[in-house]
Amino acid sequence: MHHEVGQSAAVTVPRVVVNPTLTEELRAHLVDMWARVTNEGGAVGFVPPVTADDIRPTADRSFERVRQGADALICLVAPNHEKNRESVRTDDRLGSTESAQYERVGVPGTDSDNLSSRGISGPLADERVVAWLLLAQSESLLRRHWRTVYRVQVDPEWQGVGLGTSLMAAAATYAKEVLGLEALTLMTRSGTGAERFYKRCGYREVGRIPGAIRVGPNDNRDEVHFWLDL
Ligand SMILES: CC(C)(COP(=O)(O)OP(=O)(O)OC[C@H]1O[C@@H](n2cnc3c(N)ncnc32)[C@H](O)[C@@H]1OP(=O)(O)O)[C@@H](O)C(=O)NCCC(=O)NCCS
Repeated sequence: MHHEVGQSAAVTVPRVVVNPTLTEELRAHLVDMWARVTNEGGAVGFVPPVTADDIRPTADRSFERVRQGADALICLVAPNHEKNRESVRTDDRLGSTESAQYERVGVPGTDSDNLSSRGISGPLADERVVAWLLLAQSESLLRRHWRTVYRVQVDPEWQGVGLGTSLMAAAATYAKEVLGLEALTLMTRSGTGAERFYKRCGYREVGRIPGAIRVGPNDNRDEVHFWLDL
C-alpha cells in the first residue's frame, strides 16, 4: 500500500507518493537520477564522476531497508508527458502538502505496495519520480522518536522550482502524521549550499564535525548536523 497526498489541480504539479513498489524499473530510474544528480555537483554520498554501477550497491542497501519497512521512501512523481521544470509554475509551490491529508495509511514497505492498485497500469507507466528522499529509522530502540533524512535529491531537470522544498515539507508531514515522530535530523557536507536550503526548510544546525568528510585531496568538509522539531 502506498500513501498519497492530493494536490490542487490548477497546474500540473508533482504529487507525493510514499513507498511505491521498488520494481527493477524504478530502482534503475532512482540510481540513474542519483548518478546524474552527483555528476551535476549534488552532494549525495558520492563525488563526480560516477556511473550507475558505482552507486547501485549503496542504493540496493537503502532499497532493501525500504522493502523491510525500516526506511520510508518519499517521492514526488510527475506525469511522463511533463518533461521538466518548465511545466511547473514557480509561483505555485507545493507548500500545500503541509496541510494535505494522506488519503490512505498503511504499513510502509510491504509487498502489497503497488502503483497499479490506484489505477496506474504498471509501475510508473504514466508517471515518473522527479524527486525523492529516505526517512531512516535508527537501529537503536532508544532513538525511535525521530528519523534521519537522507539521499535528498531532485532530478536536475526539475531543480530550482520549489520541488526540494515541497519534498522536505511532505517528509515532515508524513513523519509527524503517519509515523508519529517528534523530530527529523539530517547531515550534510559544508560548502555546497545545502546548509542554506535546509535552514530555509526550517531545520536548525545542532552540530558540526570539522573536516569529517573528505571529498578530494586537500578538500575536507565539515559534517553539519541539522534538526527539525515536528
Ligand atoms: C538541494 C536540492 C534538494 C534543492 O531542491 P530544489 O528543488 O532545487 O530547491 P528549491 O527550488 O525548493 O529551492 C528552495 C530554496 O533553496 C535554495 N537552494 C536550493 N538549492 C540550493 C543550493 N544548492 N545552494 C543554495 N541555495 C539553494 C533555492 O535558491 C531556493 O531559495 P528561494 O526560496 O530563495 O528561491 C536540489 O537542488 C538537489 O537535488 N541538489 C542536488 C543533490 C543535493 O545536493 N542534495 C542535498 C544533499 S545533503
